[in-house]
Amino acid sequence: MKKPRAVLFDAYGTLFDVYSIAMLAEQLFPGQGQRLALLWRDKQIEYTRLITTSNHGAHYQPFWTLTEAALRYAIKVVAPAARTEWATGGFEDHHRALMGQYRHLSGFPETRAVLTALRERGLATGILSNGDPEMLGISVRSAGLEELLDHVISVHPVRLFKTAPEAYALGPAATGVPAAETLFVSSNSWDALAATWYGYQTLWVNRQNAPFEELGTAPHRIGSSLRDVLAYLD
Ligand code: LAC
Repeated sequence: MKKPRAVLFDAYGTLFDVYSIAMLAEQLFPGQGQRLALLWRDKQIEYTRLITTSNHGAHYQPFWTLTEAALRYAIKVVAPAARTEWATGGFEDHHRALMGQYRHLSGFPETRAVLTALRERGLATGILSNGDPEMLGISVRSAGLEELLDHVISVHPVRLFKTAPEAYALGPAATGVPAAETLFVSSNSWDALAATWYGYQTLWVNRQNAPFEELGTAPHRIGSSLRDVLAYLD
């Protein structure tokens, strides 16, 4: 394999730390925070797949809108009262608070140093995310990463989410570097898998110490933090 000339990152959970969400969820829904955060994340991704696999994206809604919808759903699972008392029971306020937290996530402790090191080595850096341009812009600014990213690529123009090949194709189209010479980094195993299928070099950042997908394809490398991007290049 050729040495990568560009590194593209998934955004949520990969560059941006979503842990704070579960903490706030636990405060708002005691005993249910972890479950709510998981349900929310799973439903958010399920909605992206539902849209991508139905009618060629005719029902596309931006990732922010899907994230709001997924949170409404998850709240109604963990707190059935929310189904009838959405506005009066305080659930609307909880929803707003959690969405506010999602909007302003921090980077992981190593995010800045790793991006800085990549830039020093002359590699192109970027995000390739399901997030829509507005929410990605806010996330990048909140985490203070504007000057460390050459590309912030959203799937929004193709109205299809990862893992559609049209979404992964946006990377090489923006950077001018073929997928085979681009390292794609994700903490989502499904994303690392599909990016491998697409033709990227891949690093799965296995922060949760989970098993990889059982579909017969492995990512090129498995790591435990973004620092493993630098190890991959060495
Ligand atoms: C993204 C989500 C999947 O940034 O984490 O694309």
